[in-house]
Amino acid sequence: MQALKVGSGGIRLHHAYRGGLLQHILSVLGLTSRLTEHYSRLDPDLLVAGAILHDIGKIEELTAARRIGYSTRGQLVGHVALGLEILERHVAGLEAFPLALKSVLQHLIVSHHGEMEKGALREPMLAEAVVLHALDELDARLEQVWRLIDLAPAGEEWTAYVPSLRRQIYCASTNAAAGHQENGKEEMAWEMDQLKTCYQLREQGLNFAVV
Ligand SMILES: [Fe+2]
Ligand SMILES: [Fe+2]
Repeated sequence: MQALKVGSGGIRLHHAYRGGLLQHILSVLGLTSRLTEHYSRLDPDLLVAGAILHDIGKIEELTAARRIGYSTRGQLVGHVALGLEILERHVAGLEAFPLALKSVLQHLIVSHHGEMEKGALREPMLAEAVVLHALDELDARLEQVWRLIDLAPAGEEWTAYVPSLRRQIYCASTNAAAGHQENGKEEMAWEMDQLKTCYQLREQGLNFAVV
């Protein structure tokens, strides 16, 4: 449980700070409950399970000992396979856990990245898996976009180019709102340094990328 409380949601791209994983899980959970109000055919229990389990392997994939990074097993195996392993350990302790349900839970984990090129072992094959992938992607991208805006120097109209998104982000519309999230800024020294360098280089007319 402690690992889940302090675990990071990633190294750089999204929720990359202590507690980020739990924040991401809670956010996806909140979204699933709103979506099941809209789409009554969705199975809310499966979505809750998927929201909690889809990235659970990150508690073993990532380490925050000194700074956030990959554990050896995380580097070698990845959070999708580690998530399957964690599920297996827990299911093994439950008497006569239905195999069909275990298979669906496994599917939610292996398909949550959506596409094979993005690390999914299977593309989503049931409605709840389609939803889980979409909400996971939405939550990750929004956290990334807002973090990049928050880290941009005050008054900047655009962030530097973001390779992982293949675009710059427009800051001006949200500068006024200033709903900056302070979460984990102290965890992002590396990123702050990189951003500072990018913006310094940009002042000199060179358009360098940020993550
Ligand atoms: Fe993931
Ligand atoms: Fe996720």
